Amino acid sequence: MDSQISPIALFNLVAVLSKAMDLVSPLVVDHHKRTAWFAVHLAEEMGLRGKWINEILFSALLHDIGAFSLQERLDTLQFEFENPHHHACLGYSLLKDVEFFSQEAKIILAHHTWWKPEHDNDVGGERVPLASHVLHLADRVAILLGEDGHVPDRIEEVLGPIKARKGTVFMPRAVDALLGAAHKEEFWLGAMQPDVEDQLRLKVDPRFLEMGPIDLEPVARTFARIIDYRSHFTATHSAAVAYIAEVLARYLGFSENNCKTMKVAGYLHDLGKIAIPTEILEKAGRLDTGEYHRVQDHVVHTRNLLEKVPELGYGIRWASEHHERLNGSGYPEHSEGGEIAFGSRVLAMADVFAAVTEDRPYRKGVDRAKALRLLGRLTKEGYLDSEIFQVVKDNFDELSRVRTTAQADSLEDHRSRMECFEEMQVEF
Ligand SMILES: [Fe+2]
Ligand SMILES: [Fe+2]
Ligand SMILES: [Fe+2]
Ligand SMILES: [Fe+2]
Repeated sequence: MDSQISPIALFNLVAVLSKAMDLVSPLVVDHHKRTAWFAVHLAEEMGLRGKWINEILFSALLHDIGAFSLQERLDTLQFEFENPHHHACLGYSLLKDVEFFSQEAKIILAHHTWWKPEHDNDVGGERVPLASHVLHLADRVAILLGEDGHVPDRIEEVLGPIKARKGTVFMPRAVDALLGAAHKEEFWLGAMQPDVEDQLRLKVDPRFLEMGPIDLEPVARTFARIIDYRSHFTATHSAAVAYIAEVLARYLGFSENNCKTMKVAGYLHDLGKIAIPTEILEKAGRLDTGEYHRVQDHVVHTRNLLEKVPELGYGIRWASEHHERLNGSGYPEHSEGGEIAFGSRVLAMADVFAAVTEDRPYRKGVDRAKALRLLGRLTKEGYLDSEIFQVVKDNFDELSRVRTTAQADSLEDHRSRMECFEEMQVEF
């Protein structure tokens, strides 16, 4: 893995995150991609190019990122629904200070804000970005178009409610662009094609992704935040796993580059959890069998998603195998012994170490003696690797310190984002 990635790799990662969000229910499948398709084509019709297209594309792919629960996602499928700004504010709070997503965050914040003729509607003291109005319209076009039936038959059903709200809800310039694009079959049918992601990739203009090669670690850290904050049970878990796995890899003699890959794999190992509704992740009682299987599926999603980003190198396999166990009792492949990569075993140890030592809202983490007893037993019974356990035993205090610091930092970050979220909501 290169620790720096290209703009196209960044696009691939964003597309992966976008796809993960849409796995939460068949009812929202491909919503982000379709919205992105419409947004980019509307923007082009309005004469926007280069940097504008990139920002509209990336923000459209991520726009409902703050809609954590299944219910909230399903609410957004109504043409008009209550408090649309809740998920917009949360999306903004998650992305706002990430260098390469800062403009996208502002666009997402206002993606349900109505256009006003006086042009002075502002959010957080700033004028609503033009791209927010484009995204708002594209999103509603995607919703009105829905899933079923022959698209050309439904075009008037889509245009009617939008024309009726031109200049009151939707920006007139954007509506004009829609009417201009509406007579092209490609505008409608292209959004429904299976290759829409490939088509969107062609729209990325690398010249305008100003930062040049992008450092992968902060991108992965942002993703981890989005994975973790969906459940307060595990709000800092991925950060802990990333740091522990990196330190373990270093003690085990991994190359510097592979240590970095390990950290990124740690951040992303539970990516597939984005496909699990928070109603299940946050359930207070026991999960029923169906729910339990749904949780286990997260690792299959992780693999399918990460495989789309070859730049992650070994990290793909390490993350995909983090629930495999040497004695074959793991999942999803039930691989055994040497079938499981050594890096995957390191990540598995980091995952279990974090899980047993971290505090959760419903229980305290276990202390040193208990943790070592537990990990020792799991090693003896063939779940975890003995060489790696020896390193844990020899360096327990250091690993504990690393975990505590990573989780405290992550918790502080979480708190400040939630504060920002509360403040932004008051704005609307
Ligand atoms: Fe939305
Ligand atoms: Fe949406
Ligand atoms: Fe996991
Ligand atoms: Fe995990």
